[in-house]
Amino acid sequence: MNRLTPHPLVRTRLAWIAGATALLCGTAFGAPDAPVQLVGREVPDLAKLPAGPQRDLVVYGQQLATRTYAHVGPEVSDPRRRFSGNNLACTSCHSAEATKPYAMPWVGVSAVFPQYRAREDDISTVEDRVNGCMQRSMNGKPLPLDSREMKAYVAYIAFLSQGVPVGATIEGAGTMLSKMPNRRASPEAGQVVYAAKCAVCHGPDGAGQRVGKPGDAQGYTFPPLWGADSFNTGAGMNRLAMATRFVKHNMPLGTTHLTPQLSDDEAYDVAAFMVSRPRPVKPQLEADFPARWNKPVDAAFPPYLLGSADQHKYGPFPPLAEKQRLMAAELKAAAAAERAAAPPNR
Ligand code: HEC
Ligand code: HEC
Repeated sequence: MNRLTPHPLVRTRLAWIAGATALLCGTAFGAPDAPVQLVGREVPDLAKLPAGPQRDLVVYGQQLATRTYAHVGPEVSDPRRRFSGNNLACTSCHSAEATKPYAMPWVGVSAVFPQYRAREDDISTVEDRVNGCMQRSMNGKPLPLDSREMKAYVAYIAFLSQGVPVGATIEGAGTMLSKMPNRRASPEAGQVVYAAKCAVCHGPDGAGQRVGKPGDAQGYTFPPLWGADSFNTGAGMNRLAMATRFVKHNMPLGTTHLTPQLSDDEAYDVAAFMVSRPRPVKPQLEADFPARWNKPVDAAFPPYLLGSADQHKYGPFPPLAEKQRLMAAELKAAAAAERAAAPPNR
């Protein structure tokens, strides 16, 4: 989805106001729930789950999230269990066991899916979303829907989401918006930031630091940011605006949205340096965002609708966003025509 616009979980106050108005007008819609605030919210305690098959499944889901490489990674002994194509963990990005606010937490995800997603121009389920990251962030293949692994992911996400009302507005979901400098990002300036603030953990060559030896399926102390064992070109983290927001509010390690250590310019440039590096290529990205009007302006793969390939990759983004706003009606009409021409089975 277009992360230059707010994450859909962080719905605007407009919805709230509309609900409140409905209430005042005495309609049957009822009062909207107050937004769920993830910052400072207590994280559900796995130890409190009663022993039994449900708890076993949730625990397995937590293990799959934090030690993905050891269960379904490319180096596990049974080739049939190799789904992830790299040795990252889901929690390499979804920090703190996928509970950290503004690090794409899974808390509340069960409450807001199924959900419309621009990348597919379709309604996605939690399972689709898990497999989206499997095929992109993890550079792997989709888990079968009836596998114990998929059920475990869904169970862990549901466990983290307990207490969040269906359809809730969630503050702390996704990444926190930040100001994109209105200029082309400079990978060269970013390389300087990288050497000073990132290389100590992620390595001068971006390859991270493994726990053990290649082949032993033990993953990383510090995950790689580029190279053969990293996320692929179709991953959300490979989009400059998305990566800028993640890095600004989460890196170097220990950073939160309340204690950013990089300026907007530094975060933008270091993220540009990261996305300028080589990584596994996901084929057929042209098929993403079939409704072109809501293709994020930082999705740096063809078709390039609003500017050059270079501008979609490195910015400046504000002029593209403005152009997109102006062209939205045209692009929407084209998308509707395309849909009308497609076989009517979706
Ligand atoms: C390289 C970083 C990275 C890794 C590793 C990763 N993800 Fe993600 N994930 C993201 C980003 C970025 C988003 C949000 C952006 C988007 O919509 O593409 C996201 C979104 C999600 C969401 C939806 C959250 C929401 O707020 O809607 C789920 C669920 C999810 N990921 C599951 C997984 C699972 C399961 C794994 C491991 C199998 C995984 N992710 C690994 C980066 C990552
Ligand atoms: C003190 C060590 C440390 C430093 C310094 C650091 N990181 Fe990280 N980084 C981590 C760890 C550990 C993770 C895994 C996520 C977690 O544990 O929260 C991570 C995860 C990431 C991820 C997502 C996972 C992946 O492999 O793609 C990105 C992107 C990232 N860091 C970028 C940066 C950038 C850019 C900088 C410099 C501004 C930086 N990091 C500085 C330790 C560090």
